[in-house]
Amino acid sequence: MRVLTGIKPTGTIHLGNLVGAIRPALRLADAGGEAMYFIADYHALTTVQPPDHTAADMDRLVHEIAAAWLACGLDPERVTFYRQSDIPELFELTWILQCFTSKGWMNKAHAYKALIADREGDDVDAGINMGVYGYPMLMAADIVAFDIDQVPVGKDQVQHVEIARDIAQRINSAYGSELLRLPAAKLEEHAAVLPGLDGKKMSKSYGNVIPLFAPAKQLEKMIMKIATDSTPPDAPKDPETSTIFQIYRAVASADETRALAERYRSGIGWGDAKKLLAARVETEVAPARARFDALMADPTQIDALLAAGAAKARPIARRTLDRMRRAIGIAR
Ligand code: TRP
Repeated sequence: MRVLTGIKPTGTIHLGNLVGAIRPALRLADAGGEAMYFIADYHALTTVQPPDHTAADMDRLVHEIAAAWLACGLDPERVTFYRQSDIPELFELTWILQCFTSKGWMNKAHAYKALIADREGDDVDAGINMGVYGYPMLMAADIVAFDIDQVPVGKDQVQHVEIARDIAQRINSAYGSELLRLPAAKLEEHAAVLPGLDGKKMSKSYGNVIPLFAPAKQLEKMIMKIATDSTPPDAPKDPETSTIFQIYRAVASADETRALAERYRSGIGWGDAKKLLAARVETEVAPARARFDALMADPTQIDALLAAGAAKARPIARRTLDRMRRAIGIAR
């Protein structure tokens, strides 16, 4: 069983990413089988570009996301960890896949459809580049290149994996059923959803995140900003409806969580609850932050690890591409 997932380097990593994506992926990699996790830098290029971003931003985002996963415990000895752009075979494969993808499917891909949803008139496609439109086909190449069985993803990516499976099926029925392995999406249903500073889901797009590797002082300042109601300090409080409590539960042990729930029921001031949370988050992230800072201080270490990962991954993609080329009659 081989699993693969792509990590798009588009923003600074936050606590919601840790509990919702990084931890489940690392648990899965520990569960046996073979795991391949990669930085989808060419997918990021669809949005990480001028005028909003510079080339230096792209470089920083790629290194930050790689450093974050490594700092959080990704073991490159056990997980094949690489950069998409280091596997040139993917882009040749993308072209082949495109030639077996009907344009109508791509019109219906969620990400593209959502972008044009509220638009009218003859220029519904204004500002949408072909990378955004063709996104699912590069993603399909990412997957089928490595004979992947399972793709752990969030809800928003399930359709993309289904598109990959459909394209692979179409090619198999054209050239032979054994040509490409058919992938399946594995929805991360148990992945915890963390509330952000305003109580809505913690998400970069809501601007309510707690950054994972911010300096301790800044972390505390952000946590003190969590929205609360005006219940007096001594009044008993319901932990289940409290943002502070839910974030605490995501980082603390079961015993610690039970103890805090007790304090809620006997009355705890919001200020005190926030201080407890800030201290607990700090203990949780401090070791990872130290590893993150050390990696970012010398990004050549990160590049070397990613290059070693690509050296392991690339021959697999090469074999798939050679197999494809023979099948379609463009042998090498
Ligand atoms: N599209 C995914 C995201 O936005 C990232 C990604 C790129 C990916 N290629 C992939 C995920 C292949 C799974 C498999 O999160």
